[in-house]
Amino acid sequence: MKFSLSVRSEMAYDLLTKLLNNKAAVLPELDIRDRNANTVQQLEDAIEFYNADVYVIDQQMESYELLKNILENSGCNYHEITDEVRDILPILINLYGEEPEVKEEIEPIHYEHKEEPKVIKQTKIIEKEVFRDRFKAIPSKIIVVGSLYSGAGSTLVSTNLARMFSEREVKVAYVEHPMIKPYMFDYLQILQYQDSHEYHDISREIYADFMVHTLNSDWVKDKVHWYVIDSREPQLPSFSHDQLLLLAHSIQSSVTIIDISDRWLDPEIQRFLHLADQIYLCVEPDPIKYDRALFRHSSNPSRESRILDYLNKNPNIKQHEVITTKYTKRIELKYWNEMQQKEPLVKLPNIPYEIVMESLYKSKLVYDIPEYREIFEEKLLPIISMTLPKDLIKVKRGSGFVSKFINKTKKS
Ligand SMILES: Nc1ncnc2c1ncn2[C@@H]1O[C@H](COP(=O)(O)OP(=O)(O)OP(=O)(O)O)[C@@H](O)[C@H]1O
Ligand SMILES: [Mg+2]
Repeated sequence: MKFSLSVRSEMAYDLLTKLLNNKAAVLPELDIRDRNANTVQQLEDAIEFYNADVYVIDQQMESYELLKNILENSGCNYHEITDEVRDILPILINLYGEEPEVKEEIEPIHYEHKEEPKVIKQTKIIEKEVFRDRFKAIPSKIIVVGSLYSGAGSTLVSTNLARMFSEREVKVAYVEHPMIKPYMFDYLQILQYQDSHEYHDISREIYADFMVHTLNSDWVKDKVHWYVIDSREPQLPSFSHDQLLLLAHSIQSSVTIIDISDRWLDPEIQRFLHLADQIYLCVEPDPIKYDRALFRHSSNPSRESRILDYLNKNPNIKQHEVITTKYTKRIELKYWNEMQQKEPLVKLPNIPYEIVMESLYKSKLVYDIPEYREIFEEKLLPIISMTLPKDLIKVKRGSGFVSKFINKTKKS
Protein backbone atom coordinates (compact mmCIF):
# COMPACT_ATOMS: atom_id res chain seq x y z
CA MET A 1 0.00 0.00 0.00
CA LYS A 2 1.56 3.28 -1.12
CA PHE A 3 0.94 6.43 0.95
CA SER A 4 1.66 10.03 0.08
CA LEU A 5 1.59 12.51 2.98
CA SER A 6 0.85 16.23 2.74
CA VAL A 7 1.22 17.59 6.26
CA ARG A 8 1.82 20.88 8.07
CA SER A 9 5.56 20.62 8.78
CA GLU A 10 8.61 18.45 8.30
CA MET A 11 8.34 17.45 11.94
CA ALA A 12 4.75 16.31 11.46
CA TYR A 13 5.81 14.43 8.32
CA ASP A 14 8.56 12.60 10.20
CA LEU A 15 6.25 11.79 13.08
CA LEU A 16 3.46 10.40 10.90
CA THR A 17 5.95 8.39 8.85
CA LYS A 18 7.34 6.95 12.06
CA LEU A 19 3.88 6.11 13.42
CA LEU A 20 2.86 4.45 10.14
CA ASN A 21 6.10 2.48 9.98
CA ASN A 22 5.44 1.26 13.52
CA LYS A 23 2.22 -0.22 12.15
CA ALA A 24 3.89 -1.92 9.17
CA ALA A 25 2.73 -5.29 10.54
CA VAL A 26 -0.91 -4.42 9.89
CA LEU A 27 -0.50 -2.22 6.82
CA PRO A 28 0.46 -4.61 4.00
CA GLU A 29 3.48 -3.70 1.85
CA LEU A 30 3.63 -0.28 3.41
CA ASP A 31 5.50 2.25 1.29
CA ILE A 32 5.52 5.96 2.19
CA ARG A 33 6.67 8.61 -0.29
CA ASP A 34 10.00 9.90 0.99
CA ARG A 35 9.06 13.56 1.14
CA ASN A 36 6.27 15.75 2.33
CA ALA A 37 3.99 16.71 -0.57
CA ASN A 38 3.07 20.08 0.88
CA THR A 39 3.38 22.21 -2.24
CA VAL A 40 1.52 22.06 -5.53
CA GLN A 41 4.65 20.88 -7.32
CA GLN A 42 5.33 18.19 -4.74
CA LEU A 43 1.78 16.90 -4.84
CA GLU A 44 1.69 16.85 -8.63
CA ASP A 45 4.95 14.90 -8.62
CA ALA A 46 3.51 12.49 -6.06
CA ILE A 47 0.45 11.88 -8.25
CA GLU A 48 2.35 11.59 -11.51
CA PHE A 49 5.49 9.72 -10.52
CA TYR A 50 4.68 7.97 -7.27
CA ASN A 51 1.03 7.18 -7.91
CA ALA A 52 0.06 6.49 -4.31
CA ASP A 53 -2.92 4.33 -3.32
CA VAL A 54 -3.79 6.67 -0.47
CA TYR A 55 -3.15 10.39 -0.01
CA VAL A 56 -3.22 12.01 3.40
CA ILE A 57 -3.86 15.75 3.48
CA ASP A 58 -3.66 18.04 6.48
CA GLN A 59 -6.24 20.81 6.90
CA GLN A 60 -3.69 22.87 8.84
CA MET A 61 -1.56 23.52 5.74
CA GLU A 62 -1.64 26.97 4.19
CA SER A 63 -2.20 25.50 0.72
CA TYR A 64 -4.77 22.96 1.93
CA GLU A 65 -7.64 24.13 -0.34
CA LEU A 66 -5.42 24.16 -3.39
CA LEU A 67 -3.97 20.72 -2.74
CA LYS A 68 -7.38 19.27 -1.98
CA ASN A 69 -8.65 20.53 -5.35
CA ILE A 70 -5.74 18.85 -7.11
CA LEU A 71 -6.51 15.55 -5.39
CA GLU A 72 -10.17 15.80 -6.25
CA ASN A 73 -9.56 16.75 -9.87
CA SER A 74 -7.13 13.87 -10.24
CA GLY A 75 -9.59 11.41 -8.73
CA CYS A 76 -7.24 10.45 -5.89
CA ASN A 77 -8.30 8.50 -2.84
CA TYR A 78 -7.54 10.83 0.08
CA HIS A 79 -8.17 11.26 3.80
CA GLU A 80 -7.98 14.45 5.78
CA ILE A 81 -6.24 15.32 9.04
CA THR A 82 -8.64 17.62 10.80
CA ASP A 83 -6.81 18.30 14.07
CA GLU A 84 -3.92 16.32 15.58
CA VAL A 85 -1.72 14.60 13.01
CA ARG A 86 -1.74 11.27 14.82
CA ASP A 87 -5.57 11.11 14.79
CA ILE A 88 -5.45 9.94 11.17
CA LEU A 89 -3.63 6.75 12.15
CA PRO A 90 -6.59 4.77 13.57
CA ILE A 91 -8.64 5.81 10.54
CA LEU A 92 -6.03 4.50 8.12
CA ILE A 93 -5.56 1.29 10.07
CA ASN A 94 -9.28 0.77 10.25
CA LEU A 95 -9.64 1.17 6.48
CA TYR A 96 -6.49 -0.47 5.21
CA GLY A 97 -5.21 -2.60 8.11
CA GLU A 98 -5.36 -6.35 7.77
CA GLU A 99 -5.57 -7.85 11.22
CA PRO A 100 -8.93 -8.14 12.99
CA GLU A 101 -7.47 -7.11 16.36
CA VAL A 102 -6.37 -3.82 14.89
CA LYS A 103 -8.80 -1.90 17.10
CA GLU A 104 -7.05 -3.12 20.27
CA GLU A 105 -3.73 -2.25 18.73
CA ILE A 106 -4.85 1.31 18.22
CA GLU A 107 -4.89 2.23 21.91
CA PRO A 108 -1.12 2.49 22.48
CA ILE A 109 -0.87 4.96 19.62
CA HIS A 110 -2.49 7.54 21.84
CA TYR A 111 0.81 8.42 23.46
CA GLU A 112 -0.64 11.72 24.44
CA HIS A 113 -4.01 12.23 26.05
CA LYS A 114 -5.05 15.79 25.61
CA GLU A 115 -8.53 16.68 26.69
CA GLU A 116 -10.15 19.67 25.11
CA PRO A 117 -10.82 22.28 27.78
CA LYS A 118 -14.50 22.43 28.66
CA VAL A 119 -15.74 25.89 27.95
CA ILE A 120 -18.54 26.80 30.29
CA LYS A 121 -18.71 30.53 30.56
CA GLN A 122 -19.05 32.93 27.68
CA THR A 123 -15.92 34.78 28.83
CA LYS A 124 -13.91 31.58 28.56
CA ILE A 125 -14.99 31.12 24.96
CA ILE A 126 -13.60 34.52 24.13
CA GLU A 127 -10.31 33.73 25.86
CA LYS A 128 -10.01 30.48 24.01
CA GLU A 129 -10.64 32.08 20.67
CA VAL A 130 -8.08 34.79 21.24
CA PHE A 131 -5.53 32.12 22.03
CA ARG A 132 -6.45 30.06 18.96
CA ASP A 133 -6.18 33.07 16.68
CA ARG A 134 -2.73 33.81 17.98
CA PHE A 135 -1.69 30.21 17.69
CA LYS A 136 -2.79 30.14 14.09
CA ALA A 137 -1.04 33.40 13.32
CA ILE A 138 2.35 31.99 14.35
CA PRO A 139 3.53 28.95 12.45
CA SER A 140 5.20 26.79 15.09
CA LYS A 141 8.94 27.29 15.22
CA ILE A 142 11.72 25.10 16.51
CA ILE A 143 14.78 27.04 17.64
CA VAL A 144 17.94 25.17 18.62
CA VAL A 145 20.55 26.97 20.74
CA GLY A 146 23.93 25.48 21.56
CA SER A 147 27.44 26.47 22.58
CA LEU A 148 30.67 25.96 20.67
CA TYR A 149 32.10 24.66 23.97
CA SER A 150 30.63 24.18 27.39
CA GLY A 151 29.97 27.43 29.25
CA ALA A 152 29.70 29.67 26.18
CA GLY A 153 26.18 30.75 27.15
CA SER A 154 23.52 28.58 25.48
CA THR A 155 21.46 28.31 28.66
CA LEU A 156 21.56 32.00 29.49
CA VAL A 157 20.65 32.92 25.92
CA SER A 158 17.91 30.34 25.41
CA THR A 159 16.16 30.86 28.75
CA ASN A 160 16.10 34.64 28.45
CA LEU A 161 15.04 34.38 24.82
CA ALA A 162 12.14 32.16 25.93
CA ARG A 163 11.23 34.82 28.46
CA MET A 164 11.15 37.44 25.71
CA PHE A 165 8.67 35.36 23.75
CA SER A 166 6.53 34.80 26.84
CA GLU A 167 6.51 38.53 27.54
CA ARG A 168 4.80 38.87 24.16
CA GLU A 169 2.12 36.39 25.25
CA VAL A 170 3.38 33.82 22.76
CA LYS A 171 3.17 30.22 23.92
CA VAL A 172 6.81 29.26 24.32
CA ALA A 173 8.57 26.18 25.65
CA TYR A 174 12.14 25.87 26.84
CA VAL A 175 13.49 22.34 26.46
CA GLU A 176 16.64 21.27 28.23
CA HIS A 177 17.88 18.48 25.99
CA PRO A 178 17.74 15.31 28.12
CA MET A 179 21.39 14.46 27.46
CA ILE A 180 22.92 17.71 28.72
CA LYS A 181 23.91 18.44 32.30
CA PRO A 182 20.77 19.40 34.25
CA TYR A 183 20.73 23.00 35.31
CA MET A 184 17.30 24.55 35.10
CA PHE A 185 15.46 22.19 37.50
CA ASP A 186 17.47 23.65 40.36
CA TYR A 187 17.67 27.14 38.91
CA LEU A 188 13.88 27.28 38.81
CA GLN A 189 13.78 25.86 42.36
CA ILE A 190 11.16 23.40 41.24
CA LEU A 191 11.46 21.33 44.42
CA GLN A 192 10.12 24.21 46.49
CA TYR A 193 6.83 24.06 44.62
CA GLN A 194 6.48 20.27 44.54
CA ASP A 195 3.76 20.23 47.22
CA SER A 196 1.33 22.27 45.18
CA HIS A 197 2.27 20.97 41.75
CA GLU A 198 4.17 17.81 40.94
CA TYR A 199 6.82 18.15 38.26
CA HIS A 200 6.83 15.52 35.49
CA ASP A 201 9.87 15.10 33.31
CA ILE A 202 8.13 13.92 30.16
CA SER A 203 11.40 13.05 28.45
CA ARG A 204 11.61 10.15 30.96
CA GLU A 205 8.13 8.99 30.02
CA ILE A 206 9.09 9.14 26.35
CA TYR A 207 12.34 7.32 27.06
CA ALA A 208 10.51 4.60 29.02
CA ASP A 209 7.78 3.71 26.55
CA PHE A 210 7.56 6.27 23.76
CA MET A 211 4.43 7.77 25.28
CA VAL A 212 3.55 10.91 27.19
CA HIS A 213 1.30 10.27 30.18
CA THR A 214 1.17 13.65 31.87
CA LEU A 215 0.79 16.14 29.08
CA ASN A 216 -1.50 18.60 30.80
CA SER A 217 0.73 19.23 33.78
CA ASP A 218 3.14 21.70 32.22
CA TRP A 219 5.47 23.54 34.54
CA VAL A 220 4.86 27.20 33.79
CA LYS A 221 6.84 30.03 35.34
CA ASP A 222 7.14 33.57 34.00
CA LYS A 223 4.71 32.38 31.30
CA VAL A 224 7.38 30.03 29.89
CA HIS A 225 6.59 26.28 29.70
CA TRP A 226 9.65 24.55 31.13
CA TYR A 227 10.65 21.05 30.02
CA VAL A 228 13.77 20.49 32.06
CA ILE A 229 15.68 17.48 33.32
CA ASP A 230 14.61 16.26 36.76
CA SER A 231 18.00 16.49 38.44
CA ARG A 232 16.98 14.08 41.24
CA GLU A 233 17.01 11.23 38.75
CA PRO A 234 20.06 9.62 37.15
CA GLN A 235 20.85 10.86 33.67
CA LEU A 236 19.17 8.96 30.85
CA PRO A 237 21.65 6.73 28.97
CA SER A 238 20.50 8.00 25.57
CA PHE A 239 17.83 10.04 23.85
CA SER A 240 17.14 9.27 20.22
CA HIS A 241 16.06 11.45 17.33
CA ASP A 242 12.61 9.81 17.39
CA GLN A 243 12.24 10.46 21.10
CA LEU A 244 13.23 14.10 20.65
CA LEU A 245 10.82 14.38 17.76
CA LEU A 246 7.99 13.07 19.91
CA LEU A 247 8.99 15.38 22.76
CA ALA A 248 8.99 18.47 20.52
CA HIS A 249 5.72 17.42 18.91
CA SER A 250 3.97 16.67 22.21
CA ILE A 251 4.83 20.07 23.63
CA GLN A 252 2.66 21.76 20.99
CA SER A 253 4.08 25.22 21.58
CA SER A 254 4.16 28.09 19.14
CA VAL A 255 7.87 28.50 19.80
CA THR A 256 10.00 25.64 21.13
CA ILE A 257 13.54 26.51 22.16
CA ILE A 258 15.86 23.53 22.61
CA ASP A 259 19.09 24.03 24.56
CA ILE A 260 21.65 21.44 23.46
CA SER A 261 24.67 22.84 25.35
CA ASP A 262 27.69 21.75 23.26
CA ARG A 263 26.26 18.45 21.93
CA TRP A 264 26.45 19.39 18.25
CA LEU A 265 28.23 16.18 17.36
CA ASP A 266 25.56 13.89 18.82
CA PRO A 267 24.21 12.08 15.71
CA GLU A 268 20.70 11.94 17.16
CA ILE A 269 20.71 15.73 17.60
CA GLN A 270 22.20 16.17 14.14
CA ARG A 271 19.28 14.23 12.65
CA PHE A 272 16.89 16.49 14.51
CA LEU A 273 18.66 19.66 13.35
CA HIS A 274 17.28 19.39 9.85
CA LEU A 275 13.86 20.13 11.34
CA ALA A 276 15.04 23.24 13.17
CA ASP A 277 13.78 26.56 11.85
CA GLN A 278 16.63 28.49 13.43
CA ILE A 279 20.01 27.38 14.78
CA TYR A 280 22.13 29.56 17.08
CA LEU A 281 25.73 28.93 18.07
CA CYS A 282 26.98 30.75 21.19
CA VAL A 283 30.64 31.72 21.48
CA GLU A 284 32.54 33.87 23.95
CA PRO A 285 35.05 36.41 22.65
CA ASP A 286 37.88 34.33 24.10
CA PRO A 287 40.44 34.05 21.28
CA ILE A 288 42.14 31.00 22.75
CA LYS A 289 38.93 28.99 22.92
CA TYR A 290 37.79 30.17 19.51
CA ASP A 291 41.18 29.36 18.01
CA ARG A 292 40.51 25.68 18.71
CA ALA A 293 37.74 25.87 16.14
CA LEU A 294 40.00 27.41 13.51
CA PHE A 295 43.20 25.50 13.95
CA ARG A 296 43.05 22.29 11.95
CA HIS A 297 45.13 19.29 12.85
CA SER A 298 44.28 17.08 9.92
CA SER A 299 45.07 13.87 11.80
CA ASN A 300 43.04 14.75 14.87
CA PRO A 301 40.73 17.73 14.35
CA SER A 302 39.50 19.46 17.49
CA ARG A 303 35.93 19.06 18.65
CA GLU A 304 35.28 22.75 18.01
CA SER A 305 36.57 22.55 14.44
CA ARG A 306 34.38 19.53 13.74
CA ILE A 307 31.36 21.45 15.06
CA LEU A 308 32.06 24.43 12.81
CA ASP A 309 32.64 22.15 9.82
CA TYR A 310 29.37 20.38 10.50
CA LEU A 311 27.41 23.63 10.79
CA ASN A 312 29.07 25.31 7.83
CA LYS A 313 29.10 22.45 5.37
CA ASN A 314 25.86 20.58 5.93
CA PRO A 315 23.41 21.49 3.16
CA ASN A 316 20.47 19.81 4.94
CA ILE A 317 20.25 22.19 7.87
CA LYS A 318 19.34 25.86 8.10
CA GLN A 319 22.29 28.26 8.12
CA HIS A 320 23.28 28.84 11.70
CA GLU A 321 23.72 32.28 13.25
CA VAL A 322 26.40 33.16 15.76
CA ILE A 323 25.70 34.81 19.11
CA THR A 324 28.72 36.31 20.81
CA THR A 325 28.09 36.26 24.55
CA LYS A 326 29.97 38.17 27.28
CA TYR A 327 30.86 40.80 24.69
CA THR A 328 32.80 43.76 25.98
CA LYS A 329 34.51 46.71 24.32
CA ARG A 330 37.61 45.87 26.35
CA ILE A 331 38.46 42.99 24.07
CA GLU A 332 40.54 43.75 21.01
CA LEU A 333 37.55 44.21 18.77
CA LYS A 334 39.53 44.44 15.56
CA TYR A 335 41.39 41.21 16.25
CA TRP A 336 38.24 39.43 17.39
CA ASN A 337 36.27 40.56 14.35
CA GLU A 338 39.02 39.46 12.00
CA MET A 339 39.23 36.12 13.68
CA GLN A 340 35.54 35.28 13.44
CA GLN A 341 34.47 33.24 10.44
CA LYS A 342 31.02 34.70 10.47
CA GLU A 343 29.66 38.09 11.54
CA PRO A 344 27.59 37.43 14.68
CA LEU A 345 23.88 38.16 14.49
CA VAL A 346 23.90 39.11 18.18
CA LYS A 347 26.57 40.59 20.38
CA LEU A 348 25.24 40.11 23.89
CA PRO A 349 27.17 42.29 26.35
CA ASN A 350 28.85 40.90 29.39
CA ILE A 351 26.50 40.91 32.35
CA PRO A 352 28.28 41.60 35.64
CA TYR A 353 28.94 38.54 37.74
CA GLU A 354 26.98 40.03 40.68
CA ILE A 355 23.89 40.28 38.49
CA VAL A 356 24.27 36.76 37.18
CA MET A 357 24.58 35.56 40.78
CA GLU A 358 21.67 37.68 41.98
CA SER A 359 19.45 36.16 39.30
CA LEU A 360 20.65 32.67 40.23
CA TYR A 361 20.03 33.04 43.97
CA LYS A 362 16.66 34.71 43.42
CA SER A 363 15.69 32.10 40.83
CA LYS A 364 14.99 34.89 38.37
CA LEU A 365 16.01 35.25 34.78
CA VAL A 366 18.39 38.13 34.12
CA TYR A 367 15.69 39.53 31.84
CA ASP A 368 13.56 40.14 34.92
CA ILE A 369 16.16 42.33 36.57
CA PRO A 370 14.89 45.69 35.29
CA GLU A 371 18.11 47.34 34.08
CA TYR A 372 19.01 44.24 32.09
CA ARG A 373 15.70 43.71 30.35
CA GLU A 374 16.44 46.46 27.87
CA ILE A 375 19.75 44.85 26.95
CA PHE A 376 18.05 41.61 25.98
CA GLU A 377 15.23 43.49 24.28
CA GLU A 378 17.73 45.36 22.16
CA LYS A 379 20.22 42.62 21.42
CA LEU A 380 17.97 39.58 20.94
CA LEU A 381 15.28 41.47 19.05
CA PRO A 382 16.54 40.24 15.64
CA ILE A 383 15.63 36.71 16.71
CA ILE A 384 12.16 37.76 17.81
CA SER A 385 11.67 39.63 14.53
CA MET A 386 12.71 36.61 12.50
CA THR A 387 10.24 34.42 14.36
CA LEU A 388 7.06 36.37 15.01
CA PRO A 389 4.62 38.21 12.77
CA LYS A 390 5.05 41.99 12.76
CA ASP A 391 2.21 42.81 15.13
CA LEU A 392 3.60 40.59 17.88
CA ILE A 393 7.17 41.84 17.86
CA LYS A 394 6.61 44.76 20.20
CA VAL A 395 5.93 44.02 23.86
CA LYS A 396 2.31 44.94 24.51
CA ARG A 397 1.77 47.87 26.88
CA GLY A 398 0.26 46.68 30.10
CA SER A 399 2.42 43.59 30.43
CA GLY A 400 4.81 43.17 33.37
CA PHE A 401 7.61 45.64 33.61
CA VAL A 402 6.29 48.21 31.19
CA SER A 403 3.01 48.63 33.06
CA LYS A 404 4.78 48.75 36.43
CA PHE A 405 7.06 51.45 35.09
CA ILE A 406 4.15 53.43 33.71
CA ASN A 407 2.25 53.13 37.00
CA LYS A 408 5.28 54.32 38.91
CA THR A 409 5.81 57.34 36.74
CA LYS A 410 2.12 58.22 37.00
CA LYS A 411 2.34 58.25 40.80
CA SER A 412 5.46 60.37 40.96
N1 LIG B 1 26.45 37.54 28.33
C1 LIG B 1 26.91 37.04 29.50
N2 LIG B 1 27.44 37.84 30.42
C2 LIG B 1 27.90 37.37 31.59
N3 LIG B 1 27.87 36.10 31.94
C3 LIG B 1 27.34 35.24 31.07
C4 LIG B 1 26.84 35.65 29.80
N4 LIG B 1 26.39 34.56 29.16
C5 LIG B 1 26.59 33.52 29.98
N5 LIG B 1 27.17 33.91 31.13
C6 LIG B 1 27.55 33.08 32.28
O1 LIG B 1 28.50 32.13 31.86
C7 LIG B 1 28.25 30.90 32.51
C8 LIG B 1 27.97 29.84 31.45
O2 LIG B 1 26.78 30.21 30.77
P1 LIG B 1 25.67 29.14 30.39
O3 LIG B 1 25.41 28.27 31.56
O4 LIG B 1 24.56 29.85 29.76
O5 LIG B 1 26.53 28.36 29.30
P2 LIG B 1 26.20 26.96 28.64
O6 LIG B 1 26.77 27.02 27.28
O7 LIG B 1 24.77 26.67 28.81
O8 LIG B 1 27.06 25.98 29.55
P3 LIG B 1 26.93 24.40 29.70
O9 LIG B 1 27.62 23.83 28.51
O10 LIG B 1 27.62 24.12 30.98
O11 LIG B 1 25.48 24.06 29.72
C9 LIG B 1 27.06 31.11 33.44
O12 LIG B 1 27.52 31.41 34.73
C10 LIG B 1 26.36 32.29 32.82
O13 LIG B 1 25.62 33.02 33.75
MG1 LIG C 1 23.81 25.07 29.74
